[in-house]
Amino acid sequence: MKITYYGHSCFHIEMNGKHLVFDPFITPNPKASAIDVNSIPADFLMISHGHVDHVADAEAIGKRTGAMVVSNYEIVTWFGEKGLKGHPMNHGGKVELDFGTAKYVNAVHSSVLPDGTYGGNPGGFVVWNDDACFYFAGDTALTLDMKLIPITCPKLDFAILPIGDNFTMGYEDAAIAAEYIECENIIGCHYDTFDVISIDHEAAKKAFDKRAKNLILPAIGETVELA
Ligand code: NI
Ligand code: MN
Repeated sequence: MKITYYGHSCFHIEMNGKHLVFDPFITPNPKASAIDVNSIPADFLMISHGHVDHVADAEAIGKRTGAMVVSNYEIVTWFGEKGLKGHPMNHGGKVELDFGTAKYVNAVHSSVLPDGTYGGNPGGFVVWNDDACFYFAGDTALTLDMKLIPITCPKLDFAILPIGDNFTMGYEDAAIAAEYIECENIIGCHYDTFDVISIDHEAAKKAFDKRAKNLILPAIGETVELA
């Protein structure tokens, strides 16, 4: 499975020939200025929560591609009023879509949409098909709820976890999260975009090494292949 990093918490993942884009925040991110948002293919926009650093480019991508927004009820309703199609979910629920199964899982964070509209409670996704399973945590603290993932979902091949601290867990807690979710390969996100979440990459990798976990930090625009 090919995973392309577009900076901050934005990823493109192709699954069963469908293009999934997670938490698009590209045009307002100076670190992602080399990325052409108009060239990103999308069939599904997977939105973890309503904060602007996770939804900024969703409307434009959705209107250009006709992609379906997959998120909680409140966020799907908000994008629906802008003309985007959507599939509403809530925590603990899963759904079969063209790419496979998506489960909306807990995150410990907050959520409000850019215009102040209530964004429901924030979440993450576990996504799987017959070949692979991954967890996109969204913005979250370390939480014991993560231990439910290996109990209720297929074995994870990889996970995308925030590691930047301040607004989410930092890399020390994310390395513990890797143990809770029983996953070896972790792609870090939500770091270095702003000064308050800039991190020491070597220290982050060491924190994962200590727990025999592999931290992958792709460059913005880089594609990695896992699972
Ligand atoms: Ni957030
Ligand atoms: Mn965020």
